[in-house]
Amino acid sequence: MDAIIELDDRLYITRVNPATGKVFRCQADQMTGQDFRRFVGEEDSLKLARLIDELDARPEGERSRWIPGGLTARCPEGLSFPAEATISRFELHRQKFTTLILRNVRDRVEAEQKIQSLTTETELLREELQALHRNDTLLGESPALRQVLRDIAQVAGTDATVLIMGETGTGKELVARAIHTASPRRERPLITVNWAAIPATLIESEFFGHEPGAFTGATRKREGRFALADNGTIFLDEIGELPLDLQAKLLRVLQEGEFDPVGSHHTRKVNVRVLAATNRDLEQSVRAGRFREDLFYRLNVFPLQLPPLRERGDDVVRLAAVFAQRFASKLGRSIAPLTTDCERRLTAYSWPGNVRELQNVIERAVITATAGRLNLDRALPEASPSNTAPVHAEAASPGAIRTAKELEQLERANILRALEAAKWKVSGGQGAASLLGMNPSTLSSRIKALKIQKPR
Ligand SMILES: Nc1ncnc2c1ncn2[C@@H]1O[C@H](COP(=O)(O)OP(=O)(O)OP(=O)(O)O)[C@@H](O)[C@H]1O
Ligand SMILES: [Mg+2]
Repeated sequence: MDAIIELDDRLYITRVNPATGKVFRCQADQMTGQDFRRFVGEEDSLKLARLIDELDARPEGERSRWIPGGLTARCPEGLSFPAEATISRFELHRQKFTTLILRNVRDRVEAEQKIQSLTTETELLREELQALHRNDTLLGESPALRQVLRDIAQVAGTDATVLIMGETGTGKELVARAIHTASPRRERPLITVNWAAIPATLIESEFFGHEPGAFTGATRKREGRFALADNGTIFLDEIGELPLDLQAKLLRVLQEGEFDPVGSHHTRKVNVRVLAATNRDLEQSVRAGRFREDLFYRLNVFPLQLPPLRERGDDVVRLAAVFAQRFASKLGRSIAPLTTDCERRLTAYSWPGNVRELQNVIERAVITATAGRLNLDRALPEASPSNTAPVHAEAASPGAIRTAKELEQLERANILRALEAAKWKVSGGQGAASLLGMNPSTLSSRIKALKIQKPR
């Protein structure tokens, strides 16, 4: 987030937004009332005074500009950093004010470098190689899963946009890959975009690429994911989390097949097939004003709803058996077929984390197996004390209807508990994502959306 600082005519700070505290590494509210010149380099004070004069000479409506060469910002604790900023003048009750919108250039350069290393061709190659090692078969014989397989077969051969919906861990990404692999575009790449991993300021360049010099830190031209997916398929994961301003730009690519790389006036045309996924109720996001209605209709050409695991009947047992053999052979062990008791317990559980959670449970059960028998005692969440609390809470008011807000609070508390248990590690074997049976990137985006922060 950028710092937004309002100054009076003497250059004293009248108001700041909370992000200002982060940018200047101090308590934001303690900055108000202070002389802003304490927070910039000496020559910057003169520069600001000159710019203010220049802006005041302009007609109203044009009193805003980039600060050429930026500023040297100084934190109260002594550190200084290069900042890029805009300055604007406005008048209120015959008093003149100045607003600065300012950000640390280093943060941007760092984020940019991170993205560059993420999206080089080598990285894409590595993603494809990993995909080759993954087991991509959609297992299951339940009527609900058969319907999904029929839908995939029906839509794969077309160029239609598919909106894959389903709870976390139901196999949305797997389905996206299955559609691409069964499509005429299979020889071309499947490019995935998941903005949970990308700083908000860089999503646009990640999508559409940029020209050298498009912004500070953009030292060379870079292709965006849409260009890389030309003639192939693009998979827009977690589409419900896309910021509103980018939704308009995405709509243009979907409708016209064209976009402008950041900092370029040359429109590019691409031919991409779009698959999108979400675990949110997009219609509700539309109603809440968080998702553009036109984009929703454009994506919702072929909606594909993945059933939660608890609605797939015996598939739980079938999948458990396959996963048990898979993990056992990976560990070089042999495992006896599932007992009826095992099957009963697996079927009785509600699987909020769906297939991913089942995989994790079976992996734990194989690791803790004794004498070749799966050990569900420690593997199934109901047996662990940390998970009994929400179950009791639910039991205390069975069938209670909760408001969306209450559900969000429950989700927040649950994620917090997992983060605390995992010592704030998100991914990895002991990470919170694994405890929750969630994809680490989904968890990251939920943490962001729910504004969960690690206490200092
Ligand atoms: N029907 C299935 N058969 C075999 N494996 C499956 C099936 N469905 C999902 N999986 C496996 O479960 C895990 C989770 O699947 P995937 O990542 O596709 O879920 P997702 O819906 O994208 O989850 P999220 O919303 O958390 O991103 C993956 O390891 C995937 O291979
Ligand atoms: Mg996913």
